[in-house]
Amino acid sequence: MQVANRLNQIHESQTLAITAKAGALKRQGIKVLSLSAGEPDFDTPAHIQEAAFEAIRSGFTHYTPNNGIPELKEAIVKKFKDENGVDYKPEEILVSNGGKHSISNFFFAILNPGDEVIIPAPYWVSYPEMVKLAEGKPVILPATWETNFKISPEQLKSAITPKTKVFILNSPSNPTGTVYTPDEIKALCKVAVENNVYILSDEIYEHLIFDGTKHFCPASVSEFKPWVFVVNGVSKAFAMTGWRIGYLAGDKAIIDGAAKIQSQMTSNACSVSQKAAVEAITKGIEPLNYMFKEFEKRRRFVFDSMSKMPYVNLKEPGGAFYVFPDLSQIIGKIYMGNPILTINQFCEILISDFRIAAVPGDAFGAPLSLRISYATGMDVLEDAMNQFSAALASLK
Ligand SMILES: Cc1ncc(COP(=O)(O)O)c(C=O)c1O
Repeated sequence: MQVANRLNQIHESQTLAITAKAGALKRQGIKVLSLSAGEPDFDTPAHIQEAAFEAIRSGFTHYTPNNGIPELKEAIVKKFKDENGVDYKPEEILVSNGGKHSISNFFFAILNPGDEVIIPAPYWVSYPEMVKLAEGKPVILPATWETNFKISPEQLKSAITPKTKVFILNSPSNPTGTVYTPDEIKALCKVAVENNVYILSDEIYEHLIFDGTKHFCPASVSEFKPWVFVVNGVSKAFAMTGWRIGYLAGDKAIIDGAAKIQSQMTSNACSVSQKAAVEAITKGIEPLNYMFKEFEKRRRFVFDSMSKMPYVNLKEPGGAFYVFPDLSQIIGKIYMGNPILTINQFCEILISDFRIAAVPGDAFGAPLSLRISYATGMDVLEDAMNQFSAALASLK
């Protein structure tokens, strides 16, 4: 069978691959400590579930307008105003099948072949692949643990060429948990806007920011707003990953273009999920404080545990539910008579000999790190930190 050439340009999601491997071991009866999940481990809250049941019972199970039901778009408009201080009109919003779909619609609507997209690394695994699928060119801008994986305005400036179309800002970040301050965001956006570069602000983790820090949306600055496209969704904040509701907000011409792409690829997002999302967004995050508190507790525990371990370079992550230690110091150390040459190899050892499933940093464009998700119970995390410590202690 001759498959399409475009398949050779992209990689499969390594996050999903590790999760599948952990699943296979579990089915063999092996207790795996899964630190690879990219989703909250909580159930979708009852009031949101109830809105979905009600939608089904009332027969709200048919096609909806392609761009999203008016009630949901109104709820999103209000959310932007109340939480982010940004005024959007309903026609500047497109509801899609998850934030991932929102981002790919955006790239298909804005990129011409060869247009460059600046992606700070470590990056979320799907950005470069989606850019390539839309015939754009990912330009990776590396950052290291020393700067808490932040890029500087000077770095951004030096990566811009006449072909640069978009710069991706993801704060809080997957995989690092890094949160940029409002001033840092403004300085980066200033460089982008001065050079006629659009900003894709991926704010999917906006409600998972710790230490009392406030999320900052660059579209709230009027000079930046025409250049900013905000992507967000209900997956992470409301424990609704399976419901597949995300949204894109920004300039109407691009939103219309993205909607046109969506109308030919998938049509509307699930009608029942849209009703559930109305309930989630309207009631807001207040009822979900228990999740936030739990994440905060786990972050403290994992960060404190890892900071004490040998070979670990790690700064405190400000948000999301990940830590992303740099393990460059283990390269060349000996495990059972063999040298460790890559972090991928160490991740293999972690899963086969220490039952820990963590995602190699390679998947995120940072081959000297690995990603640990603490979206799992404290019992698993305690066990995992002991095992991780034992794995590092076994290196000579
Ligand atoms: C940084 C980032 N953006 C967007 C998404 C997309 O989320 P969803 O498609 O579930 O809305 C994810 C999910 O892992 C993510 O980590």
